[in-house]
Amino acid sequence: MRWLAYAHPLFMLVLLGLGVQVLRDGLRVRRARLLGTRADSRRHRRLARWFVGLAVPGFAGGLSSMLWLRPDPALESFHFALALPALACWLTAGALGLRLERGRAVNRHAHAALGAAGLLLGLAAAVAGFAILP
Ligand code: HEM
Ligand code: HEM
Repeated sequence: MRWLAYAHPLFMLVLLGLGVQVLRDGLRVRRARLLGTRADSRRHRRLARWFVGLAVPGFAGGLSSMLWLRPDPALESFHFALALPALACWLTAGALGLRLERGRAVNRHAHAALGAAGLLLGLAAAVAGFAILP
């Protein structure tokens, strides 16, 4: 069962890779908008749905393995202090993104800034995560 403790770190590494791709796509759409040209945002929207959707079970996986596989108390690590705001940023960015998609009046800068800040926090969480690997 020891190997199960590596499932969350591996899953999250892949997830963060996907997040970097989502951000790169978003920035491509932003560049095109600022230059007054058109860019197809379909890939950004499709991958971002997967990214935000998979972040929730990934987060829950970290928590479960802390609760059931490790002797340390849950919710007390520095890793958790970075992971929680990261997830909150992604969920809020996702909610704003869904509204943007429907053409509602939404601050697109807030969407972009929250997504990017979440990714930075997530990458910092990854560094802190390596420090608590079994
Ligand atoms: C990709 C690099 C990451 C690594 C190497 C990593 C590693 C770990 C490790 C070793 C644990 C302790 C439990 C266990 O043994 O499985 C853990 C717990 C946890 N992880 Fe990660 N993680 C990473 C990324 C993330 C990210 C991006 C998030 C969420 C945004 C996250 C959320 C959590 C949570 C919520 C816990 C429970 C922490 C606690 O209760 O104190 N992890 N992670
Ligand atoms: C469910 C999740 C998400 C949805 C549905 C979504 C949707 C959208 C939509 C509709 C746009 C405007 C595209 C256009 O103008 O054609 C956009 C732009 C953008 N998104 Fe997302 N997004 C999501 C998540 C994210 C995340 C997680 C990030 C960052 C990691 C991100 C970063 C950006 C950026 C940088 C832009 C460009 C903003 C600008 O034009 O100034 N998005 N997104």
